[in-house]
Amino acid sequence: MERYHERRQQLHQQPATWLVTGVAGFIGSNLLESLLVLGQRVVGLDNFATGFQHNLDEVRTRVGAAAWQRFCFIEGDIRELAVCREACTGVDYVLHQAALGSVPRSIEDPITTNESNITGFVNMLVAARDARVRRMVYAASSSTYGDHPDLPKVEERIGNPLSPYAVTKLVNELYADVFGRVYGFAPIGLRYFNIFGQRQDPDGAYAAVIPKWFAGLLKNEPIYINGDGETSRDFCFIDNCVQANILAATADDQAAGQVYNVAFGERTTLNELFALIRERVTTRMPAAAQAEPVYRDFRAGDVRHSLADISKGARLIGYQPEYSVRTGLDKAADWYMERFLG
Ligand SMILES: NC(=O)c1ccc[n+]([C@@H]2O[C@H](COP(=O)([O-])OP(=O)(O)OC[C@H]3O[C@@H](n4cnc5c(N)ncnc54)[C@H](O)[C@@H]3O)[C@@H](O)[C@H]2O)c1
Repeated sequence: MERYHERRQQLHQQPATWLVTGVAGFIGSNLLESLLVLGQRVVGLDNFATGFQHNLDEVRTRVGAAAWQRFCFIEGDIRELAVCREACTGVDYVLHQAALGSVPRSIEDPITTNESNITGFVNMLVAARDARVRRMVYAASSSTYGDHPDLPKVEERIGNPLSPYAVTKLVNELYADVFGRVYGFAPIGLRYFNIFGQRQDPDGAYAAVIPKWFAGLLKNEPIYINGDGETSRDFCFIDNCVQANILAATADDQAAGQVYNVAFGERTTLNELFALIRERVTTRMPAAAQAEPVYRDFRAGDVRHSLADISKGARLIGYQPEYSVRTGLDKAADWYMERFLG
């Protein structure tokens, strides 16, 4: 936490200009909020494929009108190089989040996922390189570990990707590495492990498990668990992810051109997760105590267990997650309950 505190103080004293792509999405809008609170100038880019105007509206309300003046939004698509170039103009740091997430979406429509996640990614690399930004940080993914059996996951040991989405995230890392070698432009990849928290979308066929279960319990709808519930994940609260982005962007050059796990470093099964969410919802909705999950088939492309070794990030960029799964779920619960119960 020490380095994070120090870096935030430096940024506060000497504000920079940041580009956040995917700014209307879950992670992007949280980066935007934290950066504006820190006194930074932010350019945001999004095509609203899976992001929402209401996420931007919520950030505006939370940071206030004066801070909002430091934000400039471009509605546009990273599949167009000219748009990426416009967005990178005059920018110090790029936090590239725009992509189509979700394994099942990529299985149903690999072409569209490929266009945003690979063509869009290369466009952003070229635009950021040519604009001579100080550093580009991009959203990589734990899906890159694929079928590698080792636990915990260590950055250097990956397996074969298990979905089109995982292929795109692996290809991002390959391109980033090659841009470092060929052009001396070495972005940092952050392999996110199941990030959760405020503004993660609970709706739609591709919603992630935590928002879906909060919404399901709060609306008294059935909760489904794919498989026996002993599948586990390293769930990581959004504020830890924001910390990793700010640390990576401002890290020393020796940390550049590498990938880092962004997780909490603890494994939670889906059965445990269900109990933790139900416990929190029950504080405002006592009837939820009776809710039980419905078990159904395992889902194609899902890995059985996931757990990160986060020591490389600790060593090279000073990453020290502040929120555990439980304290993160407390904060997420407040947000979902406010949204659904008022
Ligand atoms: N949430 C997680 O647990 C998780 C885990 C691993 C990796 N990631 C990665 O983190 C990033 C952000 O994910 P998120 O959870 O905030 O998802 P999200 O869907 O909420 O945000 C993605 C944003 O990118 C925008 N976008 C998509 N395609 C675009 C395009 N072609 N041009 C411009 N904007 C585009 C969307 O409209 C959306 O606002 C993604 O790259 C995702 O693959 C997320």
